[in-house]
Amino acid sequence: MTSLPLEKDYCHLFIGLDVEVPLLDGSKTRYINFDNAASTPPLKAVQEAVNEFMRYYSSVHRGTGFKSQLSTHFYEEARQAVMRFVGADPETHICAFGKNTTEAINKLARRFPFTKERNVVITSGMEHHSNDLPWREAAEVVHIQLLSDGKLDFDDFDSKLKEYKDRVALVAISGGSNVTGFITPIHDLAEKTHAVGAQFMADCAQLAPHRKVDMLPLDDSRHLDYIAISAHKMYAPYGTGALIGRKDTFETGDPDMVGGGVVEIVSLEDVVWAEPPDRDEAGSPNHVGAIAMAAAINTLTAIGMDTIASHEAALTAHALHRFREIPNLNIFGDKDPENAAQRLGVISFNLQGVDHFKVASILGHEYGIGVRNGCFCAQPLIMHLLKIKGEAAQKVQEDIIQGDRSEMPGLIRASFGLFNRTEEIDIFIDALKDITNGDYKGEYVQDKASGEFMPTDWEPKFEDYFSLTV
Ligand SMILES: Cc1ncc(COP(=O)(O)O)c(C=O)c1O
Repeated sequence: MTSLPLEKDYCHLFIGLDVEVPLLDGSKTRYINFDNAASTPPLKAVQEAVNEFMRYYSSVHRGTGFKSQLSTHFYEEARQAVMRFVGADPETHICAFGKNTTEAINKLARRFPFTKERNVVITSGMEHHSNDLPWREAAEVVHIQLLSDGKLDFDDFDSKLKEYKDRVALVAISGGSNVTGFITPIHDLAEKTHAVGAQFMADCAQLAPHRKVDMLPLDDSRHLDYIAISAHKMYAPYGTGALIGRKDTFETGDPDMVGGGVVEIVSLEDVVWAEPPDRDEAGSPNHVGAIAMAAAINTLTAIGMDTIASHEAALTAHALHRFREIPNLNIFGDKDPENAAQRLGVISFNLQGVDHFKVASILGHEYGIGVRNGCFCAQPLIMHLLKIKGEAAQKVQEDIIQGDRSEMPGLIRASFGLFNRTEEIDIFIDALKDITNGDYKGEYVQDKASGEFMPTDWEPKFEDYFSLTV
């Protein structure tokens, strides 16, 4: 796997990769973005499509002018593009646009037709909070256990499905972990879920930008009933996400949010809801965001999701391989470079003896490398990976409630995107080696409330880079 060639350098497709950022010693360096699991930089094609569209931008849906008709046309085209991208059939599926994956999952939690008999949602201990908390508000939630490396315990999945069988309404699992990079065999789990008469949702926030997602036809027992995705993780940061799912669910029930757009007819006494997807898009939609998302999808499709996957697998293999040179670096998840193609390019680790807040701060301030640290909105998973339970877990909670995050458990996460290069990983490895050897320049002080370490002599002048009045 380590010998997998990088297909190509994709940097020229992106905006802002040449930006130099200030370092603690007064110099500047080209920014290295290893925080792609949070948000990715924009594709030039996305910005160009949006800029061009601005000339025609107008209200969508009920406007009668040419620009309104054009805007409506391309909003609906964008919806079709998103559905095609994930193998959804417009006859049987809908795509409801919203802000992001979080909003999409909240919508499904409120719109899902739970019954008195079927009111259990099976999710797992590895989920992002966005695919856990919405279910807790809507149903009885059961969590599948994890193995020590954070992978799903498939035996526990089988036994929970058997135990709750007729009561299971939905299984809601992440297609790929934003912490360990573990890729869930979603179609296998969907098949087992359907066998007990329940439905299956995959949180594809991490998967869709990096792997082909195919929902499959509803009559295929391995199909996905619903998926949720975010455009800002797919190189289109204009505030859009989508819930794609089986139409029959959205043809019944009240909208989760009411107002303009979701109705067929309203009197002072009565209301008839619109057909989907309108029923699920209250208010004026973000059609610019939808168009941006479709433009990103066009680029990803033109490159090819398989090409993207192998490019990112090569980056991941290179990183996993080189991480071995740092003896006090512990990776959480699959460490084997040979398995890079079977996981996402999301690698979480810690450096024994150096606080995760401090490592992230030194990387940013002394090397211009943007990573993320902490719990990545997956606190139960981090506690599991770090084996923090019982009294120790209680103490963590108490400290946080009392406003003290100075000992908050957490990891450091590097996550790769299409534009990253092996040279960037090499710079990263050298930086981690320096940090391990105590070979960094700044003096860092921790803020007790946030847990963050900041260098003592650091006053960035953001206005030198950007102004709201440009
Ligand atoms: C697996 C997973 N699910 C859901 C989300 C939430 O995505 P968003 O913040 O776009 O709503 C994230 C964000 O990182 C994620 O990684």
